[in-house]
Amino acid sequence: MKPRLFQNRVVPGFVLAILACVLLSAANEVYRRVPQPAAGGSANQSPASAATMPVATSDRMAWFRHDKFGMFIHWGPYSKLAGEWQGHRIPVGTEAEWIMQRFNIPVAEYRQLAHQFNPTHFNPQEWVSLAQATGMKYIVVTAKHHDGFAMYRSQVSQYNIVDWTPFGRDPLMELSQACQKAGIRFCVYYSHREDWDHPDGYGNNWDYDRSKKDFDRYLEQKSKPQLRELLTNYGPIGLVWFDRGMDTPEHARQIVDLVHQLQPRCLISGRVGSYGQELMGDYQDMGDNGMPTGGLEEYWETPQTLNTTWGFSRFDEQWKTPGNVIHRLVEIVSQGGNYLLNVGPTGEGVIPQPSVERLHEIGAWLKVNGEAIYGTTYGPVQGQSFGRTTRKGNTIYVHVFEWPKGALELSGLRSRTISATLLAGGRPLAFKQSGDRVWLTLPEEAPDPSVSVIALRTE
Ligand code: GLC
Repeated sequence: MKPRLFQNRVVPGFVLAILACVLLSAANEVYRRVPQPAAGGSANQSPASAATMPVATSDRMAWFRHDKFGMFIHWGPYSKLAGEWQGHRIPVGTEAEWIMQRFNIPVAEYRQLAHQFNPTHFNPQEWVSLAQATGMKYIVVTAKHHDGFAMYRSQVSQYNIVDWTPFGRDPLMELSQACQKAGIRFCVYYSHREDWDHPDGYGNNWDYDRSKKDFDRYLEQKSKPQLRELLTNYGPIGLVWFDRGMDTPEHARQIVDLVHQLQPRCLISGRVGSYGQELMGDYQDMGDNGMPTGGLEEYWETPQTLNTTWGFSRFDEQWKTPGNVIHRLVEIVSQGGNYLLNVGPTGEGVIPQPSVERLHEIGAWLKVNGEAIYGTTYGPVQGQSFGRTTRKGNTIYVHVFEWPKGALELSGLRSRTISATLLAGGRPLAFKQSGDRVWLTLPEEAPDPSVSVIALRTE
C-alpha cells in the first residue's frame, strides 16, 4: 500500500461509521497479510544482511502496526538550559528545545554551553526499564536536533557528545544496547534539514548569511554522512524520525534512498517530506499533539508531549494526567494510529519525576488492558458517545470513557456476540443482543477510573 497523505480535517461521526464498515474487510485483509516475515530474515537481522533484499511496505510496517505505543526522548544541550538563557525564559506552552533559535544564541556561545553538557546521571537501563514498565514498545531518541549537536560519537563532526563534552560517553550506543537486551525497538530522531550550527543548514539566519547557504553542501557534508553513521553503527534501527520536511521531493528522495540502501526494513517518518498528496515516508505524522479524524486504514502516528514542551524546561508544570494520556492512547489506537509519548530528560540525564509517576500509572492500566491495544486494528464501531472500540480477530474491545448507570448500549455490531467480559478482574457481564444492538449489564462502579474495557467475543 503506497502511503498517501490524509488531511487533518473534521469528518462527521456517521461518515466515519460508514467508512469504518466499508473499510473493515479490506483493511483486515491487509492486516492479515502483514505478519509474514520477508525472505531473508526478521527485523532483528544485521543491517548488512538486510541490505540485499527489497521489503514490501506492509511487511516492514508489521511491528509498527502491532506495537502502537512508543517513547519519544528529546535530549541535548538545550536540556541543560532547561528553558532559560541569560535570564530569558521560554514561555510555558512553547518548545524549550528551540531555545537557541528563539533567543538567537550565537553559535560560538551555544557551543560553549554544549561543552559543559555532562549528564552524569544518565542510566540507559533505567530509561529502557521505564519505557517497558509503561508498556512502550519502541524508543525514538534525538540523535541530532535542530541545534546541530550530535548525541552520539560522530566522525563527521567533532560537535558531538563524545568529543565535545566532559561526559565522553555515547548514550545512543548505550541505549541501543539496553533496548536490544530488553526487546524494545531502538529508533532515532534526526533533524535532516534544520541545523543551526552548520553554515549551510536551515534555520540559523542570525549567524549565517542566508544568501550564501548551499543546502546541498550541508546534505553531503553532514546530514547524509551522519545518517550513514547512525544506520551503520547502532544495529537495527526501527525507524528514523525526520522532522520539518525537505523543501523538494528530490532532496527527500535522496534521504529515503539512503535509509533504504543501508537498512531496508527501517521505517521513515512522514516528516521526511510530503508533496501534494504523496507522502515520501512510510507513515504520516500528525501535527504535534494532533489527531486526525479520517484515514482509518492508513499508517499514522501522533507525537505528544507529557507537559507542553519536548525538551526539558524547569518552568513547565503543565502535566497531563495519566487519565488524559490513556484516553488519548485509546482514541488514537481506535482509529488505527500509533502514539509516541515524549519525555524530556534533564541536563543531568534524569527523566523528571512527574513524568515517571505518570508513566507508571499508564503502564499499570496497560498491564490490565494491553490486549485491547497491542496488535489491534481500529474499532469496527466508530463515533460512539460512551468511548471507543478496537478489534482483534473476532474480539471487539469496548473502551468505556463515561461509565453509564446500569447498562451500556452498543449499536452497529455486524456479528453475534458470544460473551462479554471486563478485562479488569475478568468478570463476565450479562448481555442481550437484537440485530446490530447489544445491551451490556454493568456493575455500578467503573472498574477503572480512566477507561474500563469490555471484551466482546463475537462469531
Ligand atoms: C515540533 C518541534 C520539534 C520537535 C517535534 C517533535 O516539530 O518544533 O522541536 O522535535 O515537534 O514532534
